[in-house]
Amino acid sequence: MLVGAAEGAGRAVAGRCHGTGTGTGTDTNTGTGTGTGTEGCRGTERFHGTGSHPGTGSGPGTRRPRVARQARGPARVTAPTRHSLAVMRVDYSPGSIDPGSFYRLLTAVIVPRPIAWVSTLTADGETANLAPHSFFTVASTDPPVVQFTSVGRKDSLRNVEATGEFVVNIASEPFLDQINETATDFPRDKGEFDAVGIGTEPSLRVKPPRVASSPVALECTLHATLGLGNSTVVFGRVVHAAVSEEVLVDGDPDIRRLRPLARLGKNEWGTVGELHERARIPYRDWERRN
Ligand SMILES: Cc1cc2nc3c(=O)[nH]c(=O)nc-3n(C[C@H](O)[C@H](O)[C@H](O)COP(=O)(O)O)c2cc1C
Repeated sequence: MLVGAAEGAGRAVAGRCHGTGTGTGTDTNTGTGTGTGTEGCRGTERFHGTGSHPGTGSGPGTRRPRVARQARGPARVTAPTRHSLAVMRVDYSPGSIDPGSFYRLLTAVIVPRPIAWVSTLTADGETANLAPHSFFTVASTDPPVVQFTSVGRKDSLRNVEATGEFVVNIASEPFLDQINETATDFPRDKGEFDAVGIGTEPSLRVKPPRVASSPVALECTLHATLGLGNSTVVFGRVVHAAVSEEVLVDGDPDIRRLRPLARLGKNEWGTVGELHERARIPYRDWERRN
């Protein structure tokens, strides 16, 4: 399992303090590039990257001594540095600490993450695979495209590449333990639906089955994959959405009925907490008010 594997990675503190100061962007990398497939993009379209990194850069400043820490959690560049904001921050440099530690930092702060419970089929159609992926979001609304990221080459990714199809089943609160069980690293020929005992129902537009108990199934065809370092981002064109009547209120999915789970840092999971409603403020109203 991704989380376990990453946690198993070393926790060595190897970061460097990069000093104090309020830099003004002198380390800016402002290149705009059009990368055309050099990072392993495959699929129906080419990936055109536009990279612009404004760089708020902290200046070289005064180097402070390093202090090793044994505490759990991401390896830290331990000397706090004072920035122009009147807060003390701890700086982390991805180049200087091990990737496992930086992974732990990212997954602890980019939270909460929705969970795509991804069902796929092997090329021979014999084995139905199911695995949670929390690096998951909407990539485009028109056409509707969703994306999930496989860290490493896992069965879900292999099946999508081989068949060009998958289903995103929304991970709902009552199924937390089942979802976690499907993250077990079963052998490739052992499908999680059977192993964990999860009921299927046929999809309408693709071959991989839906999770019968999941309130929402997004049936997808492969749009493109993008290789990025140790990971592959999978983009899926949503060709059909099937939503349980039970989660609809006045025709819209209702959060209190959907009860989506979220992935947090470490081995933590979250549920929906307090809700707050705010209407967007059109600029003309903003002007009147301020
Ligand atoms: C809640 C949760 C979220 C996860 N998110 C991801 C993810 O975004 N990407 C990933 O590669 N693995 C993720 N994993 C780990 C995979 O689910 C795990 O490696 C699984 O065995 C992959 O199954 P597969 O080989 O059948 O595709 C997650 C695990 C859990 C429990």
